[in-house]
Amino acid sequence: SWICFSEKELKIIGELANKYDVIVVEDLAYICMDFRKDYSKPGEPPFQPTVAKYTDNYLLLISSSKVFSYAGQRIGMMVVSDKLFNRKYPDLKRYYASDQFGHSMIYGALYALSAGVCHSSQWGLAAILKEANDGNYHFIEEVKEYGEKARIMKEMFLKNGFTIVYDKDEGEPIADGFYFTIAYPGFLGNELLEELLYYGISAITLDITGSDRHEGLRAGI
Ligand SMILES: Cc1ncc(COP(=O)(O)O)c(C=O)c1O
Repeated sequence: SWICFSEKELKIIGELANKYDVIVVEDLAYICMDFRKDYSKPGEPPFQPTVAKYTDNYLLLISSSKVFSYAGQRIGMMVVSDKLFNRKYPDLKRYYASDQFGHSMIYGALYALSAGVCHSSQWGLAAILKEANDGNYHFIEEVKEYGEKARIMKEMFLKNGFTIVYDKDEGEPIADGFYFTIAYPGFLGNELLEELLYYGISAITLDITGSDRHEGLRAGI
């Protein structure tokens, strides 16, 4: 939908995770791609808003296929706080060799569930991160184009009677990013999808994304 959680919302989620001692899995697939702010300079504010600022009970999933344009290699990153990584959960022993969260996650879950990633892709991603950290690779410049394309596409839809379904982050208009959500008066999502296909426009209905907005579609750039 391209809505972005605000610091206020992430803080609430982080505080709840601390209070009830639960782990938050944050899918940061589009890290740095809220182009309203430049989050891309390592070590310099502003920083990417994340629940990790408010709790140690986090597990961040960072895709390399979006902001690093490194899609085909099928590599991503999972980032866990040291505290959570080293924490022991006795119940894990029922399924895994260790009661340590990090060990069980890597050798019990990831290793068993994924095909692994070849060394060349790992070296490739490490090199991208190093160049970004050394200030030699300005990865955001390569992908800003998506934001501009989204802006133009949104304008075209709005001019022609469409509405944006999820249009605000708290009170603020949403960013221009990879996706946005559209609806057209009098059409349910699946009806609109069929109609748009005749014009060569493909999308998915919000119905199948778990949304309760049945009139909408998610359009990709
Ligand atoms: C919200 C979200 N999470 C995760 C992914 C998966 O990304 P990857 O290509 O790294 O598997 C995508 C990709 O489309 C996505 O949109």
